[in-house]
Amino acid sequence: TETQTFSIASIPGDGIGGEVVAAGLRVLDTIAKQSEGAVEFDVTEFPWSSEYYLKNGHYIPEGGLEELQKHDAIYFGAVGTADVPDHTSLWGLRLAITQPFDQWANIRPVTFLPGVQSPLRKADDTELDWIVVRENSEGEYAGMGGRNLSGRGPGNEVALQTSLHTEKGCERIIRFAFDLARTREVKKVSSVTKSNAQQYGMVLWDEVFARVAQDYPDVETESVLVDAMSAKFVLHPEQLSVVVASNLHADILSDLGSALAGSLGLAASANLNPDRRFPSMFEPVHGSAPDIAGQGISNPIGAISSAALMLDEFGLHTEADRVRKAIENATGAGILPRDLGGESNTVEMTEAIVTQLEAIH
Ligand code: NAI
Ligand code: MG
Repeated sequence: TETQTFSIASIPGDGIGGEVVAAGLRVLDTIAKQSEGAVEFDVTEFPWSSEYYLKNGHYIPEGGLEELQKHDAIYFGAVGTADVPDHTSLWGLRLAITQPFDQWANIRPVTFLPGVQSPLRKADDTELDWIVVRENSEGEYAGMGGRNLSGRGPGNEVALQTSLHTEKGCERIIRFAFDLARTREVKKVSSVTKSNAQQYGMVLWDEVFARVAQDYPDVETESVLVDAMSAKFVLHPEQLSVVVASNLHADILSDLGSALAGSLGLAASANLNPDRRFPSMFEPVHGSAPDIAGQGISNPIGAISSAALMLDEFGLHTEADRVRKAIENATGAGILPRDLGGESNTVEMTEAIVTQLEAIH
């Protein structure tokens, strides 16, 4: 049989990025070994980080994006450190990849694991899982605006941060959400905006949503304002399946979702270029966690689940499901990292998942 080789560009970045990316690659390595030559992952590491930036004056060197583009996928840790302003690091590395590679769909599943306590009372006796679909190319993070626009000077400065919503941008992410809903048991899309207060861009979004919904009569829909949706995440999460929202709203809602599932350290994310003209990028939702960096105690589950999303993108769905099952079996057996009240450090948690993976092979 022929070997299927997938090339992965890994960018550990800052803080706990390195250890959680190593955890995910360890799991992928296990998957490759178990395939007995059918699947192979060819990983190239890129050292772009804030330390690299402070030394070289840039996160991504000239020609760096062209290098990245040669790979089938990008596996990203996190970026952010006390020595560099957060907007410089985020725009210098993460958004410097998602934007030019047109990774316009950001998928963030909210998964409740056995053995993990949720702050939601309902989580014990209700089946909960939903996916936040984030518009990832425009909206509030379009980077449009400026500061001190008419030379008003210190104390009188003016800043504009403009949201950009295009009909095409709205339509493609909304269609994506409907197509995703069709693959799920509960075929429902909840659209989130703040169109009562923001009467241009968000009203355009609402209109596109209503129009696209007509092409999916088999999918249930609702439109909910973002403030109400944040309450709904807590009070009626059983009513959610696919939640589609703008860049900022979905960013906030997905952190809320992962906290409800037990910890930010659990949450997975895929920045997809569904047109497949560019590689997609897979990363845990969390940041570089400077408060626990260097201690080897971070939760690797978010990064490992993100690697499972990468396997899905490669078409390796059976393998992806096995990784998810191995995570469930590990937490279900009571093996938990510190942020979930357990004792396992990053490596111990990863090895527990690898052991489960080997057991279900
Ligand atoms: P954060 O996600 O790094 O940390 C928030 C809290 O969650 C901290 O108490 C941290 O210890 C905990 N936490 C996060 N991931 C964890 C894990 N895997 N295991 C255990 N505990 C975990 O967010 P914060 O503190 O707002 O940002 C820190 C830095 O990360 C900043 O520089 C920020 O800009 C950057 N950041 C980068 C992101 C990215 O690269 N995609 C996303 C979010 C933040
Ligand atoms: Mg976020």
